[in-house]
Amino acid sequence: MSDSSDKKAPEDLCHCLQQARRVVVLTGAGVSAESGIPTFREAQTGLWARFDPMTLASPEGFDRDPALVWRWYQWRRQLVAEAQPNAGHLALARLERLVNEFVVITQNVDGLHQQAGSSKVLELHGNIGRTICSETRQLIPDDWLRDQSAEPPPSPHHPQGLARPDVVWFGEMLNEVVLDAAMRSSAECDVMIVAGTAGVVQPAASLPAVAREAGAKIVDVNPDAGDISRMADWHLKGCSGTWLPRLVDCFELDSNNRECG
Ligand code: OAD
Repeated sequence: MSDSSDKKAPEDLCHCLQQARRVVVLTGAGVSAESGIPTFREAQTGLWARFDPMTLASPEGFDRDPALVWRWYQWRRQLVAEAQPNAGHLALARLERLVNEFVVITQNVDGLHQQAGSSKVLELHGNIGRTICSETRQLIPDDWLRDQSAEPPPSPHHPQGLARPDVVWFGEMLNEVVLDAAMRSSAECDVMIVAGTAGVVQPAASLPAVAREAGAKIVDVNPDAGDISRMADWHLKGCSGTWLPRLVDCFELDSNNRECG
């Protein structure tokens, strides 16, 4: 994997970031890869290379075999519970304090942005740490789940309901309020930093185009090239744990200058 570890952010990019007042960061599974959480689509290591998404991440799969789906998510929850935010997450938490209008839009369900200290996070695909009723979608408290031994536990909210993770499965709609907010921020930002996403799952994949059409500059951080890096103004080839801190350094440079000036 090429990581450009000796490179600084290009000067024109750094200048552009210093001018930006409204910044959106769109993240995907690659941002959590350096925390030990597997991505989805990478050959060999991606979850979808080893598991069938329609069996494990669709309402039909859950109807067919709820125990299998519940256990798979319990395994993923364990991976997330053992993970720590990495340098990329921490850099974005730092960035929130440097830019007035700032939001992280994430496709990740691991909560690592919040754990790193980010408070402005739009979770497009939900959060694996929460559990909801399969019938009513009401939250099921952890206290209640602790006393249950069935896999999955029954829901306290509905006689036919089962506990399921609060994540968006294939074929399901995203939360409308969260998606609207993500669309609005994308259409209003000066710069969108995209990091660690293959950019193939809609509607998240179309947010960089929304930003670009509204006049924003796009930066893509990814070791591999894809549709987003091809439309981006800058493609920083390498890991988010390396590049995001460097990008945030550009903003910090600016705020130091302002303090001195
Ligand atoms: P993918 O697994 O499709 O893509 C991960 C991307 O991260 C790839 O482009 C990798 O090249 C890149 N990558 C890997 N390591 C990286 C690193 N250290 N730094 C930066 N980039 C790195 O994951 P997503 O695009 O997030 O949806 O997938 C989108 C959605 O598809 C997920 O949210 C999930 C999945 O099905 C649901 O579960 C609903």
